[in-house]
Amino acid sequence: MAETEHPRTLVVVDHPLVLHKLSLMRDKNTPSAVFRQLLREISLLLAYEVTRDLPMTTQKIETPVAGMDAPFLKGKKLVIVSILRAGNGLLEGMLDLLPSARIGHIGLYRDPVTLKPVEYYFKVPSDIGERPVIVVDPMLATGNSTAYAIARLKEAGAKDVRLVCLLAAPEGVKRVSEEHPDVPIYTAAVDSHLNDHGYIVPGLGDAGDRMFGTK
Ligand code: URA
Repeated sequence: MAETEHPRTLVVVDHPLVLHKLSLMRDKNTPSAVFRQLLREISLLLAYEVTRDLPMTTQKIETPVAGMDAPFLKGKKLVIVSILRAGNGLLEGMLDLLPSARIGHIGLYRDPVTLKPVEYYFKVPSDIGERPVIVVDPMLATGNSTAYAIARLKEAGAKDVRLVCLLAAPEGVKRVSEEHPDVPIYTAAVDSHLNDHGYIVPGLGDAGDRMFGTK
């Protein structure tokens, strides 16, 4: 895949509301409280897109006026898996739209020297193989930790996996789509490149620090 060519599994949600809110988040002068609120609002919009093709069924109901075959979601509730810690920011907005979703957590940190993922926590529903799974991780940078997390979910039985990130670098999109060609990637934007420290350029800085005010 050429650097500028995107895989078919990439969905860039470039809705005007998403892009406006993302620009506010990128601004280094935006305070943590506003940053968190914007992330919550964008994640609700991303959740709307990533659930667009969920399977449906019909059930007979009675409205006050007539009977009808009404459309409902089919199958078990989906699972949202947050890659700690920054994934929790995306999780909250997703839960506003999907309040009955089951929730999994994967604790990973990036070794600052090798940039490779190190796992410290893994807890997901035992029947994950029977549910659609949405992995949330705001920043798809090298793609190392995200590709690792998806592989762990597949080991645990997950079959229908989708990834939602706020921002992606071409390097991360390439890495995840090569390792997991079955996993569609939903993002608000694909930025230019990664810098020498593994940060997305222009990006928004460290999403966890911006969210939690830890810097
Ligand atoms: N993680 C972040 O929080 N920001 C980046 O730019 C890259 C990885």
